[in-house]
Amino acid sequence: DPAQKYDFIIVGGGTSGLVVANRLSEIKGVTVAVIEAGDSVFNNPNVTNVAGYGRAFGTHIDWAYQTENQKYAGGSKQIMRAGKAIGGTSTINGMSYTRAQSVQIDAWELFGNKGWNWGSLLPYYQKSEMFQIPSLNQISRGADYYITYHGENGPLKVGWPTEITNRTMLPMLDQTFNQLGVPFNRDVNGGSMVGLTSHPNTVNTKENVREDAARAYYWPYQNRSNLKIITNTLANRIIWSNDSNSEAVAVGVEVTNPHHGVETIYASKEVILSAGSLKSPVLLEVSGIGNPDILSTYNIPVKVNISTVGENLQDQTNNGLSFQGTEFWLGSPTFSVLPSANQIYGSNVTNVASYINSSMAEYAKVVSNSSKGAVQEANILAAFKLQYDLIFEAQVPFAEVVLLPIAGSFMSEYWPLLPFSRGSIHIKSANASAPASINPNYFMFKQDLDAQVDVAKFIRKAFATAPLSDFVAEEFAPGMDNLPDTASNSQWDDWVKMNCMCTKNSEGLEKVADNISDRSNFHPVGTASMLPRSRGGVVSPELRVYGTKNVRVVDASVLPFQLCGHLTSTLYAVAEKAADMIKKQYRL
Ligand code: FDA
Repeated sequence: DPAQKYDFIIVGGGTSGLVVANRLSEIKGVTVAVIEAGDSVFNNPNVTNVAGYGRAFGTHIDWAYQTENQKYAGGSKQIMRAGKAIGGTSTINGMSYTRAQSVQIDAWELFGNKGWNWGSLLPYYQKSEMFQIPSLNQISRGADYYITYHGENGPLKVGWPTEITNRTMLPMLDQTFNQLGVPFNRDVNGGSMVGLTSHPNTVNTKENVREDAARAYYWPYQNRSNLKIITNTLANRIIWSNDSNSEAVAVGVEVTNPHHGVETIYASKEVILSAGSLKSPVLLEVSGIGNPDILSTYNIPVKVNISTVGENLQDQTNNGLSFQGTEFWLGSPTFSVLPSANQIYGSNVTNVASYINSSMAEYAKVVSNSSKGAVQEANILAAFKLQYDLIFEAQVPFAEVVLLPIAGSFMSEYWPLLPFSRGSIHIKSANASAPASINPNYFMFKQDLDAQVDVAKFIRKAFATAPLSDFVAEEFAPGMDNLPDTASNSQWDDWVKMNCMCTKNSEGLEKVADNISDRSNFHPVGTASMLPRSRGGVVSPELRVYGTKNVRVVDASVLPFQLCGHLTSTLYAVAEKAADMIKKQYRL
């Protein structure tokens, strides 16, 4: 239907896209279309069940993107999961709600993104949030908060699952981690994240169902006549105006729809890409925005030359230890430990810091070379220096250690939060739906492998410390037979590299396939970074793609640096701020 025309087209009805769609369509007379590849998962039990983490993996609502062989990480391909549904990845994720350390958001402004700092983002975290005060019973089991950090009138329900693991757990963990120098942190959502905590989740406490972007931002508003979601439909590329302008002007999006085949949907104001950090850069490239060397390989005319599209891919790697429990635990665990580098390394921290400090120039060379010069050495070196300062000066959390007393076992899943490895995502075809070349370059640098080992040792030490040690028996994984305390560093390295990252499911730890594993922590960011163009940015502080008049990216692609929190809370806040910027620009 060639008459399909809207003011705004949002590509991707996921975590970020639905926020923007909701806020723009609040205004009568503004028409918004959301193009979404997936469908409703409102009644999908793999989504709604608060204890169902992992059940949606490998089903039709999981994109299950595959990486290139990870040459530094044992050679296998990895699966990077992402939700294909109204609500996107928020419908399949682990539901943890933790924001960031304040200095990490302040760094966005320091690097040239005017107006982006913790103080200016906090109101948007709060605008998105409907904090549900925990019950006395939940408080007795560890739920804790400072109300001033939270918003109570937003769409997104944040709180604790109905049943939390029993009340002896938190005091026991607190006593243990205190001895390791890690204090209790009542509420990690106020910008200071270090400590042991019982963080909230995105959950509807009353109904005990998952809260996702669709339940928060779409379903209650689905009857708005100016908001249209077009499901089961793939966006193929941006369609540009033929007029010769100094800036590229988008007029619409070509889509493939199961009923009408290929057609164009027109936008009179803007096209907003919210397809996620593993798809928005692909859509930019097939639409002619990217590195000319890559685009010309697939005969794509260059609309805007930005060689860093798809670069700067940053993810974390996940691993786990598990122990036999001496008790049978019921209820959802919500405990995490976020130790700083000082707390992990103790007096050895200066050695680790000086090793990294003296390696960063070399790291920057390697990253620049691996991008064939698309990433400038000076730019990535500046980012590494920032990261070094965050870890060793500001002492942001170095790792997240999730503590999972489940039934008769006690698992601990963990990931170092700020690896130095940098990867990329680029097209391998002119077709947006064809698989892209995704290469997170896990363990590109020895430091990232070391971090993975060092945190594992820290966890082993914690489980050998009373009173936690009284609650566990044998270590199942990696196991003392396999890796005794006397094991060499290279044996630990092998374990980290070869141990498939196991997906938690009802059977415990499971390997995905022989040559494919699941080591990603599923926090890919940075593939269309918000940074000045001279620093390798793809989008401006208004999230507009450089060289275009009316194309924005609003999703995890724009986060320039990895965060210590889980991503959704920040993405909701960024999308809320983006919606306000758009309204302001168009005086809506
Ligand atoms: P998101 O993926 O939400 O949205 C993109 C949308 O675009 C999808 O709906 C997709 O179908 C659609 N799309 C893609 N290509 C398209 C095309 N060509 N045409 C049309 N539509 C298209 N975070 C957190 O805060 N707490 C947690 O516990 C976890 N745990 C976790 C576990 C797992 C398994 C994963 C995979 C991720 C997490 N995360 C998380 C991370 C977090 O969920 C994730 O970063 C965000 O949901 C990403 O939001 P975006 O808006 O960037 O993309």
